[in-house]
Amino acid sequence: MAVISASILAADLAHLKDEVERVKDYIDEIHLDVMDGHFVPNLTFGYPMIEGLRKFTNMPIDAHLMVTNPDFHIKLFIEKGATRVTIHQETCYHLHRSVEYIKSLSAEAFVAINPATPLSTLEEILPYVDGILIMTVNPGFSGQKFIPSMWTKIKKLSEIRKDNGYKFKIAVDGGVGNENALELVKNGVDILVMGYGVFRNPNLPELRKLLSKNE
Ligand code: DX5
Ligand code: ZN
Repeated sequence: MAVISASILAADLAHLKDEVERVKDYIDEIHLDVMDGHFVPNLTFGYPMIEGLRKFTNMPIDAHLMVTNPDFHIKLFIEKGATRVTIHQETCYHLHRSVEYIKSLSAEAFVAINPATPLSTLEEILPYVDGILIMTVNPGFSGQKFIPSMWTKIKKLSEIRKDNGYKFKIAVDGGVGNENALELVKNGVDILVMGYGVFRNPNLPELRKLLSKNE
């Protein structure tokens, strides 16, 4: 069954606890978009947010670090409660070292790539990662449209995984909703990161029903 990872960037932050409570039966984990206003043109959450979340939820939390110098933040996010850390290929000088560092702290290590970054830049890291996050929008904001050329990238990555017998998970982030979720899963996606697709989806119960068609 595909995993639904709810990006709280799209939630009503004035009522975060109620928001998570409202959608909890339809999601599997929480996705925390950490943005520094430098790597991406938006500023969002830091350590206090994950501490706050941990006061009312035991769900897995993915810290998606859209920051320059992510190495500096990895340990603290895990200490505060992140069960997965997603770092961008574009921000890491020593990607293998950073991936191994995350795993040594007993969290899952995912590597994200922006829409314009080729899959070929991941070739040597694939044997080491727990997952790859394909950005299907340019990172920075919720509520953007899925970039159609990302279908080819997703299919290609699924093939590479199959051909090499790799076990990493494939996640997608950006512009995912009821209209494309099932097709994504059919093409090999394991984790659907969804902001608007969860918190601003008037047909949220439909989503699980749709995904169950792939079981
Ligand atoms: C974008 C973030 C996403 C975003 C997804 O930079 O990484 O996680 O919140 O939002 P939707 O699903 O609304 O496109
Ligand atoms: Zn994200």
